[in-house]
Amino acid sequence: SLMDQFLGRRQTEKKLADYFGNQRCIVVSGNSEEQSKVADAFGEALTEALDLLLPEGNNIIAVMGGTTMAVVAEQLTNLENKQRHNLFVPARGGIGEAVTVQANSISARMAAKANGKHRALYVPEQLSLATYNSLLNEPSIQEVLNLISQANCVIHSIGRALHMAARRKMTEEELVMLKQANAVAESFGYFFNENGEVVYKVPRIGIELKGLANIPIILAIAGGKVKAKAIRAYMKNAPKQTWLITDEAAAKEILKGV
Ligand code: F6P
Repeated sequence: SLMDQFLGRRQTEKKLADYFGNQRCIVVSGNSEEQSKVADAFGEALTEALDLLLPEGNNIIAVMGGTTMAVVAEQLTNLENKQRHNLFVPARGGIGEAVTVQANSISARMAAKANGKHRALYVPEQLSLATYNSLLNEPSIQEVLNLISQANCVIHSIGRALHMAARRKMTEEELVMLKQANAVAESFGYFFNENGEVVYKVPRIGIELKGLANIPIILAIAGGKVKAKAIRAYMKNAPKQTWLITDEAAAKEILKGV
């Protein structure tokens, strides 16, 4: 029955949160790889979680890019009220994604849906180190970087390491290195092995993994059976305040043999 399914999912959520030791896991029914409505359900779960977690006052919400983030952005609804105002910013600049799934686009879209504001970080891809460094000294960029550093909420996804490396057109050397290091997961431009240890980092500006630990509200959204390994690896060392929003397909695969 529906009730049994609901209770079953609640139990899976509890098991998953016990396994990772994180604050909360939300498990949506189905497999997001196969059914697009599952990803829509991620968005609904995200809106509910944000509404519950975001305090009154001025919030700064830093978001990552990717296709999951692009889909969930469309499901956000109003998060503003008299006491609560939200500014969306990209969490990191230029890590090699197509425009439509870049963090800048996602934060603009989320702001539009949630009736908040947004600020973009204009750092082009493929810059020489010298140009990159001088851009960092631009006051307009400094200003946005400063906002990012004050974020009290981060929303991100988790990807498969080699898949992400290929999507970002990383070099053959980097791919070989990632394989040798047994990289399985990627998030924030960091690559992780199965133990959740960082094996490589794409050098970009914005939120750093070490700073993430100090951010009170963190939501990670990733699902699908293919991502199970990546989610498990990343969540092993993820900050404990992280809420994971995932689907049954990934959760079942992660909990196999636990
Ligand atoms: O590139 C941004 C990013 O958030 C990565 O950190 C993550 O691995 C990936 O996108 C997830 O992408 P998708 O939702 O398309 O699987």
